[in-house]
Amino acid sequence: MLFKNKKEFKVDSQLSHIAFIMDGNGRWAKKRGLPRKVGHKYGAEAFEQTVRNCHKIGIKTVTVYAFSTENWSRPQEEIDAIIDLMRKYVEEAYKYNDIRVIFIGDKSPLPEDLKNRMIDLENSTRNCINTLNIAFNYGGRAEIVNACNELIKEGKNSITEKDINNHLYTKASPDPDLIVRTANEFRLSNFLLWQCAYSELYVTKALWPDFDMKELLKAVESFYKRNRKFGGLSNQ
Ligand code: IPE
Ligand code: IPE
Ligand code: MG
Repeated sequence: MLFKNKKEFKVDSQLSHIAFIMDGNGRWAKKRGLPRKVGHKYGAEAFEQTVRNCHKIGIKTVTVYAFSTENWSRPQEEIDAIIDLMRKYVEEAYKYNDIRVIFIGDKSPLPEDLKNRMIDLENSTRNCINTLNIAFNYGGRAEIVNACNELIKEGKNSITEKDINNHLYTKASPDPDLIVRTANEFRLSNFLLWQCAYSELYVTKALWPDFDMKELLKAVESFYKRNRKFGGLSNQ
């Protein structure tokens, strides 16, 4: 990690992409005797702040896991609350227009109005420097299947890793250097299964709505202590 003075941390090119599994909103609410949807509301605030914090310390690409292909099995009221929060976020991001937003996942089952605004946002922020991938109705397995089906449609009968990479929802981003999961869960839950091949993993006990700059810097510090070898030997 590079830092100009004790107060200003800056990462270097070793950490160009960080991904978050934003977990623990429900537990955060439960601890306070509040409905789960209130946890998601505070989780949405932590998300916005964390994206800003990442860009502030020089991380160019941020990916967040906001809604999985498996999360449809939750109560409808909770799903509706999450969709409403996304609607709100899309309008806000459209107004600021300062981050390139890309939705990764299958938009097709989403409400028509939201789907259209997501596409508007993607188009209007296309030329911004920093990128935010929002995984919404995202599943790692579904993403790989989708890539394979696109390749079949193109008439390919033999494919390479590069072909798959170029057909993933994340094709515009490098693989994540660091995956952070909150709420002390040590699993990927169908997140970035292809892209995580050599990602460093970091788990914190903090629940997502409590994730702040201090927590982010702890994760980043941990990353800079890792010895990434990519199958080779140290110090190559
Ligand atoms: C993560 O928080 C947000 C989503 C999965 C949408 P959870 O809602 O999974 O919170 P817990 O795991 O129940 O605490
Ligand atoms: C993963 O969290 C999905 C998101 C953060 C959007 P879950 O809470 O759905 O994962 P599991 O069910 O604990 O594996
Ligand atoms: Mg959870």
